[in-house]
Amino acid sequence: MFFGKEIPISVDIGSAYIKIARISENRTGSELTLFDYIEMPLGTIVDGIIEDKGSATQALTDLVQKNKLKSPNAILSVSGHSSVIIKKITIPKMKEEDLANSIKFEAEQYIPFDINDVNIDFQITGDTYQGSDQMDVVLIAVKKSIVKDYLDVVESAGLTPVIVDLPHFAVSNIFEHSYGLFENETIALINIGANSTNMNILKNGVPLFTRDTPIGSIVHSEALMQEFDLTAQDAERLKRGLTIANVQPENAEYTIISASEEIFADVQRSIDFFRSSVSEEDISKIFLSGGVAMTKGFASVMAERLLIPVEIINPFNNLKISDKVDETMTRQYASLATVAIGLSLRRPGDR
Ligand SMILES: Nc1ncnc2c1ncn2[C@@H]1O[C@H](COP(=O)(O)OP(=O)(O)OP(=O)(O)O)[C@@H](O)[C@H]1O
Ligand SMILES: [Mg+2]
Repeated sequence: MFFGKEIPISVDIGSAYIKIARISENRTGSELTLFDYIEMPLGTIVDGIIEDKGSATQALTDLVQKNKLKSPNAILSVSGHSSVIIKKITIPKMKEEDLANSIKFEAEQYIPFDINDVNIDFQITGDTYQGSDQMDVVLIAVKKSIVKDYLDVVESAGLTPVIVDLPHFAVSNIFEHSYGLFENETIALINIGANSTNMNILKNGVPLFTRDTPIGSIVHSEALMQEFDLTAQDAERLKRGLTIANVQPENAEYTIISASEEIFADVQRSIDFFRSSVSEEDISKIFLSGGVAMTKGFASVMAERLLIPVEIINPFNNLKISDKVDETMTRQYASLATVAIGLSLRRPGDR
């Protein structure tokens, strides 16, 4: 248990927004005691890589100062489809501490990078089948250079990083907290942000398949800019439902939903790949998070295209919102906040 100032805050550094959150536990359960966000200047993060550390640090510093946070510990997530590998592997059964010693050797054959250039973590998910002498392990490898960039930004903003996580696991943590395990059903958690889509297909809480693709609301921005001859800033305003001179809101909505076909096709490809390479089981439901989930009509059209029910994750099923937090804003931005809220469930020392 962490009390008072020791409770870490979470920092979700995205290419469109930085989000921060904090969850405290008390006798009556968990409570969100912080949520806020700030825009990330365009071009600061490209392809999951922080191209402009100064501007990312400035944005995070502004957010930290606005919330009067004094050098707290931070849980952060790193992203980047070309720098993060999550893979399910099958290896002979062994104890967790033995695997911790040999994981580098085990991982070498699965990682397309020099093993010395990556941070490796793993999670034993269970026996391959009942009575098997093999076990399934989720292997996670993240390029050290990417982690370092995120750590540099967080430290330069005056925070002390204590945990580095991935958006997939942050989403599955808050999903489980909100909905339980969804036993015996194969479900897909899909987090769609500005430039990336993180997919995690799970059964009984165990990840069967994860994938990152470099697609997101950027396709909406590009379509709006082209269709109505707009700047990126005006496209961003339209996506948030604000009005822009000479653009009818219904025309903008039509353009956004049409451009979404590219995202649906990407998700379909990932699901097809899962079904051909991992399991033929049908996915019974998609749970959506990320800023794109806030796009009017997106979830319902997605369900029609993929022929799978789509529900937007509500992170507040089992989480109170403290009166220190702006509840209306937080509920409105719940999809944007999901990763940050999931990260803030983590505690140092957890596995
Ligand atoms: N109503 C809305 N309010 C805010 N953002 C919205 C809204 N509707 C759509 N969006 C889009 O959602 C995206 C932001 O979502 P999110 O914060 O999940 O992305 P991110 O984490 O910054 O991006 P990534 O993880 O891909 O780098 C932006 O592209 C934004 O335009
Ligand atoms: Mg994101």
